[in-house]
Amino acid sequence: MTTSTNDVTVLGIETSCDETSAAVVVNGRTVLSNAIYTQIEIHKEYGGVVPEIASRKHIEQVDMMVERALADAGVTLDDITAIAVTHGPGLVGSLLCGVSSAKALAYAAKKPLVGVNHIEGHICANLITHSELEPPFVCLIVSGGHTHIVVVEEHCSYRLLGRTRDDAAGEAFDKVARVIGLGYPGGPKIDAISKESKSPVYFKPPFLRDNGYDFSFSGIKTAVINYVHNAEQKHEEICAADVAKGFQDAVVEVLVTKLMCAAESTGINKVVLAGGVSCNSALRAACDAESKKRGFEMYYPTPVLCTDNAAMIASAGYYRYCRGELADLSLNAMPNLRLF
Ligand code: KG4
Ligand code: ZN
Repeated sequence: MTTSTNDVTVLGIETSCDETSAAVVVNGRTVLSNAIYTQIEIHKEYGGVVPEIASRKHIEQVDMMVERALADAGVTLDDITAIAVTHGPGLVGSLLCGVSSAKALAYAAKKPLVGVNHIEGHICANLITHSELEPPFVCLIVSGGHTHIVVVEEHCSYRLLGRTRDDAAGEAFDKVARVIGLGYPGGPKIDAISKESKSPVYFKPPFLRDNGYDFSFSGIKTAVINYVHNAEQKHEEICAADVAKGFQDAVVEVLVTKLMCAAESTGINKVVLAGGVSCNSALRAACDAESKKRGFEMYYPTPVLCTDNAAMIASAGYYRYCRGELADLSLNAMPNLRLF
């Protein structure tokens, strides 16, 4: 691709959890490269992400991912306008690898540095997938660490409607998958095995009593654990597909009901999903059906942009860069960084 002198070409770096990624994105929407090294195979053995191992792998991989992203994009550091890096939220050791690497690059190449909130990155994945998408829109962010419903009023400006009070949706998928013996990461496995279910186990959809936009997933997780223990005590076999589908149905019902309610009450007819769980086929099907009934436009990121990647960080970095929000070399990892 040829770029013009007015183009803003951002090198993005993402290391907040168990993916090491670097990407080159032009003007926030055009991805020239998106190199991703996933550590899933390594953490599988332990049933979840081991922070110390994640940090060590990021250190090993981050420079290689940057080199690959530049090479795949056919650019050099000279062509880069700014370097954007996830500085939170996430695992502190993992975040530090990306932040230190981005600071070193920015210093050595004399490039502006932008600190990016990982959740904002997930939202921006949609701006890459849908080049016509502009705020305002209502967004449900559902990932391994986060569950939020927000109104994106304009680029970089958010109004929080609801959030989880305990576990994130993806975290509940991962824990339930472990309990029914599917292994890590659980979300895609629950999604796949649910399709084999003939008689789903009923779990009550976890609506909170106050009917607001907040979520709670720890109760349904406990209900599944109790169901499994009960069966074990009676020496009965559980059907993993039926448990998985019952759990997924209940979670999807709550997510979709609240998301549609949020769009109706705000009068915004553009509805957006973001984060790893937005890959879920049942969630997408339910969102499609419910939004169609209401005449809403539904948007999802392409699957590779649903889970962690640096292209979405470069996109978010672009919008922050355009607002002049630059970081200096004191930029630090902030494991609990908030966006709203
Ligand atoms: O966005 P992400 O890569 O990481 C965080 O920022 O947390 O999301 C990872 C989460 C994991 O919990 C994973 O199980 C879940 O997304 N996930 C899914 C699916 N694909 C990934 N959950 C349900 N169904 C899926 N198809
Ligand atoms: Zn993420």
